[in-house]
Amino acid sequence: MREHLRVAVVGTGGWGEQHARIFSRRSDTELVGIVGRDPSRTASRAATYASVPYTDLDEMLRDARPDLVTVCLPNEAHFEPTRHLLRAGVPLLVEKPLVFELDQADALLREAEDRGVFFAINFNHRYAEAVQRARQAIVDGVIGSPVFATWRFGGEANHGTSPHANLIETQCHGFDLLEHLVGPISAVSAHMTDMTYGDWSTVAIALDFESGAVGTMLGTYDSSYAFPDSQLIEVNGTTGRLAIHDTVSELSIQRVGDETASVWRAGYFNDEARDFHRTFDRHVDALLAAFRAGEAPPVPARAGRRALQLANAAIRSHATGRRVEVAA
Ligand SMILES: NC(=O)c1ccc[n+]([C@@H]2O[C@H](COP(=O)([O-])OP(=O)(O)OC[C@H]3O[C@@H](n4cnc5c(N)ncnc54)[C@H](O)[C@@H]3O)[C@@H](O)[C@H]2O)c1
Repeated sequence: MREHLRVAVVGTGGWGEQHARIFSRRSDTELVGIVGRDPSRTASRAATYASVPYTDLDEMLRDARPDLVTVCLPNEAHFEPTRHLLRAGVPLLVEKPLVFELDQADALLREAEDRGVFFAINFNHRYAEAVQRARQAIVDGVIGSPVFATWRFGGEANHGTSPHANLIETQCHGFDLLEHLVGPISAVSAHMTDMTYGDWSTVAIALDFESGAVGTMLGTYDSSYAFPDSQLIEVNGTTGRLAIHDTVSELSIQRVGDETASVWRAGYFNDEARDFHRTFDRHVDALLAAFRAGEAPPVPARAGRRALQLANAAIRSHATGRRVEVAA
């Protein structure tokens, strides 16, 4: 494999800028193209990151010959371009959510499987220092066996076309992280409100885990990212408890009966670990190492389908007023 991987980014929005930043600045990648719809916006983004603007996917594939393409399009516009790229056999890193419909998720996974295409999704929260340390602490038995877990995440609304935008495009990180930390979820019971603007903008979900643990998820578009603990994760085990505050801000671990806690916070000069955006850089480190080694992605696109499966179970639970079991 070549020393500099040729990477192209599809999408010129706010988060697309992070894609361009990462692949243009790494010493082992070359940003060979940026694809957008609007010619002047795309030209301007490409100029900022010393890349080549394209407004046509196929033209980019022909001219730029990327080894890897990343897709960072509006939440509801992932399916067609992703399928097109998979059919072209291009290794892909796509943004969450994978898609909004399970049959579309299955179609994409089938396209990738049929062609043996590397197909990753950006669940970058897994790479936050606090999350990685928390996972290691759980694996090492520091808090004993998890008995309950809590996820709280939300702020201002990101209006979408789906009435379940919050649940599917934002809380997918929650389903992914809770399973990453505590193992498979086996059932959900959901409550939702549409009282503010008509969509299901705040959801409260009770969870069963296969291990016997239970959990709760509170996901909201009716709050503010200005509030502390916009994101809060708690895992309480038989011998201790850990809490992650705002993804990259703090991890505290405390043992049962001990009034002192062990706390991780990024040190004075450690800007990298306190920067949310850098969770994506860290994911790319792991992803490119796997890609170069010919291995499967560290976070496969299948994880996006799993989050959607859990979201759909929550939607069904809310619609029927019943607890819904979810197969692993
Ligand atoms: N992983 C994370 O932490 C994280 C954080 C923020 C956003 N995201 C995800 O990133 C994705 C993009 O978010 P954003 O905030 O950049 O969105 P955005 O709406 O700001 O930008 C999307 C861009 O894609 C362009 N576009 C639309 N259709 C296109 C097409 N067919 N071809 C080319 N360009 C097209 C739009 O004009 C726009 O410039 C979303 O899926 C979002 O959920 C992920």
